[in-house]
Parts: sequence; C-alpha cells; structure tokens
Amino acid sequence: MRTLLRTTSAAVALGLSFTALAACTQETADDDAAADEALTAAGTTYDPFKDIDPALGESLWPNEQKDIAATTRIITSFLQRRRAEGRTDTLGRVRTLRDAHAKAHGCVKAEVKVRSDVPADMKVGVFAQPKTYKAWIRFSNGNSEVRYDWKRDARGMAIKLTNVPGAKVVKDFPEQSTQDFVMINHPVFFVDNPSQYASTLEVFHSGKGFEVLGQLLSVTRLPLENAKLALAVNGTQIENPVAEPYWSMAAYKLGPNRAAKYASIPVACDAMDSFPRDRAAQTAWLRKAQEANESHLPSAHRDELRAAMQKTLEKDKKDVCYLFAMQPFVDLERTPIEHTTVNWDAASAFVPVANVRIPAQTFTSEAQDTFCDDMSFTPWHALPEHKPLGVVSRTRLIVYAATSKLRRADNGVGLRSALTGPTGDESF
Ligand code: HEM
Repeated sequence: MRTLLRTTSAAVALGLSFTALAACTQETADDDAAADEALTAAGTTYDPFKDIDPALGESLWPNEQKDIAATTRIITSFLQRRRAEGRTDTLGRVRTLRDAHAKAHGCVKAEVKVRSDVPADMKVGVFAQPKTYKAWIRFSNGNSEVRYDWKRDARGMAIKLTNVPGAKVVKDFPEQSTQDFVMINHPVFFVDNPSQYASTLEVFHSGKGFEVLGQLLSVTRLPLENAKLALAVNGTQIENPVAEPYWSMAAYKLGPNRAAKYASIPVACDAMDSFPRDRAAQTAWLRKAQEANESHLPSAHRDELRAAMQKTLEKDKKDVCYLFAMQPFVDLERTPIEHTTVNWDAASAFVPVANVRIPAQTFTSEAQDTFCDDMSFTPWHALPEHKPLGVVSRTRLIVYAATSKLRRADNGVGLRSALTGPTGDESF
C-alpha cells in the first residue's frame, strides 16, 4: 500500500498517463515482491534497496531486485544439486560448499595493526585509532568446484577482524562482532549489470558443458568487453597465495561522506613502508608483484597452493606481511560507484591504513579446516562507516547470506564462532 501511494503521487506530480501509471505501479510492485523474496532467502530484515547513498553515487539499476532474486535462485539450486550429487570438500567429505571460492587453501591467524599515520579524514570505523585487531584470513580459489590449483582461476583473500565493537549495518546477521574485508587478485570485477550477471550464471551453473567449456559458454552471454574481463579475472595462475596482491573491486563507504576501494598489498615485513606513494609507481609496483608470483607450471598435485603456504609459514617459519590501503573516490566519471568494471588506478592513489602480519604458523589440521569453512565472510559484516556500495555489493548481501545460511544448516554448524563471531583466540 505504501508503495502504491508513493508511486501514485510521484506519477501524478510528473503528469504521467493512467496507462503509464499502471505499468509503473506494476513494476514497482514486482520489484517489491522480488526484494521480499531476496530478503527472505537471505534471512534478514535489512533492505539494501531502501538504504542506498545517492550522495555517494549509488543508484538502483532497473528492476535489479528481480535480477538479484533470480541470481540467488540459480545459486541456491546449484548448491542443492551439487550436494545431492555428493560433492566433496578438500578433505573428501560430502558437504554443502560455498558457491564461489569453494576451495580454501587455509585459514590463518593474523594481526591487523591500524597505522599511526592514517590521515585524519580516514580515521573512521575500525581505522579511527591506532589499535591491533586479531584476525582470521581465508585464502581461496574462486571456482565453484574444488579443483587442481594450476587451473586458471580467480584467487581470494578474505580478512575477518574479530572483537569489533559497535552496531553493524545488518543487525540480524550472525557474526555481529566482526568486520570483514573481502578481496580478489584483480582490480576490477567483470560485470556490473545485474541482468547480465544472472544470465551468464544461468549457463555457468546449468551443468551443461564441463569445466572450461562451461565457463566459455557462459561468457558468450556477456558483451565482448565483459567477456574479456571475465577471462582475465578468472584466468590467473599463481605461485603462492600469500605473495599475491588482492583488491576489493567494489567500493565502500569510508565514513559518512566518502567512498573508497581498498587493497591488500604484499610487502616485506622489515620494509612496511617500501610501497611507493606515487600513483603511477604504485600501479607498476603492483603489476611487478603479480608478475613475480605468476606460475605457468601445471602440476600433478591438486593442492599445490596450500603446499606453497605451508612452505612459507610452517617449514620456512617466515612471517608474511601486507599493507592494507584505501583508494579514495575522486569523481563519478573516473571512480564510479555502480560500475565495478572500472579500474580506479588512473585516478586515485592507495593510502596505507593498516599493517597486516601473518605470523609463521601451522594451519592445516582437520579441525581448523572445518572451522575455516564454517565461517562466513561477507562485505556486509561491516560497521556503517564501511558500508558496501553499488549493485554488486547489494547482490552479494543477499547471495552470501542465503548461501551461508544454507550451507551452515546443511552441514549442521552450531559453533559459537559461526554464530556470534570468532574471537581470534581459537586454537586447534
Ligand atoms: C554479483 C557478484 C558476486 C556474487 C554473486 C558472488 C557470490 C559469492 C558467493 C555465493 C560466495 C560464497 C559465500 C558463502 O557461502 O559464504 C562468494 C565468496 C567470495 N566472493 Fe563473491 N560474489 C560476487 C562478487 C564478488 C566480488 C566483486 C568479489 C571481490 C572482491 C568477491 C570475492 C569473494 C571472495 C574472496 C569469496 C570467498 C570468501 C570466503 O573466503 O569465505 N565476490 N561469492
């Protein structure tokens, strides 16, 4: 009823005809029904479609609620089908896995230390004051299946800060005590339009064609530029997950009036300030870091990236360090909020806000792997100061919540860490 009144008065004010008004009213009602379907699947009453930040450049895409509801349906049906087919995790156990980033190389303990030189206008949210957070970091392959690591893929790094005080954007999600930062090893995502995303996913999850063929068939649903991006994002071969840079791809709030993307940049622990401050030098530095970590060696060993992490952290007992940096918004043309396919590097430099240290450790017990997979990392575990922005983020709000709800229910997860959030003191 509220929607009907809203639409009617807006249309009357604009002098629209009754036919146009009827069509418009129908569309709004459909969008509301789709939003309800999506929020129910996600198990939340928080409505991202009613909480957009137009002043920061957010706007709804036409009928995006319907496309997001369709994407959620495709993904949850895929998970149920693969569970029924007996899909197994890295340890060979039949479980409901993540739809994306199904294979973890491991979850490691880390410390995230807010730097003392954070610029005044970035001292917001978890970066408000110098402080060290205990964190868990999950490294993963992007694919929906547990595959050999030499295969081309996107790679993920998901950081979960623990014991983060303050009310979060979504107050009825589990893990209220956490703030997550979720990244991939490429600066941009491959698609913005939610309808194109649903369409390509429909083919990708149809079960038709296998592996590479299925992937290639699905990108034919995209415009050429997006198809090329899809192949670039999902086409990396890397040597070691803890030597790779990772980007947020999407934009986030950085305080009430500002937006930024962020990145995790690998640096030597004894040279935390070695990353250049100049924008062009940063881009060259990041490219070099990726090239140095590129791998072209097919291997017979399925889990070679986990083995590479083990060599660094367990065998060589080396600490690993990252610089966590913000890349602030400049203007809607060069740093758009609703278009994650646009690289901001030509317009904006990264500003370090935290030092991340992953101490030498063992991380491969079965109990730790289970704990790792039972957590849920989502950009929507966020303080309002770090609220995710844009359509890709709104999609992820619904999809991650729906899939983690499903897999936790299927897998009988009842751990405290999975409900209120881990403390960072867990040991296995
Ligand atoms: C519409 C776009 C996207 C969809 C539908 C999507 C879907 C998903 C799903 C279903 C999961 C598993 C969630 C769970 O069961 O807990 C996931 C995990 C993940 N996604 Fe996305 N994703 C999208 C975009 C992105 C983008 C832009 C990034 C870039 C940073 C990203 C990075 C990741 C990572 C790193 C994980 C693994 C998190 C973990 O370790 O648990 N995704 N994604």
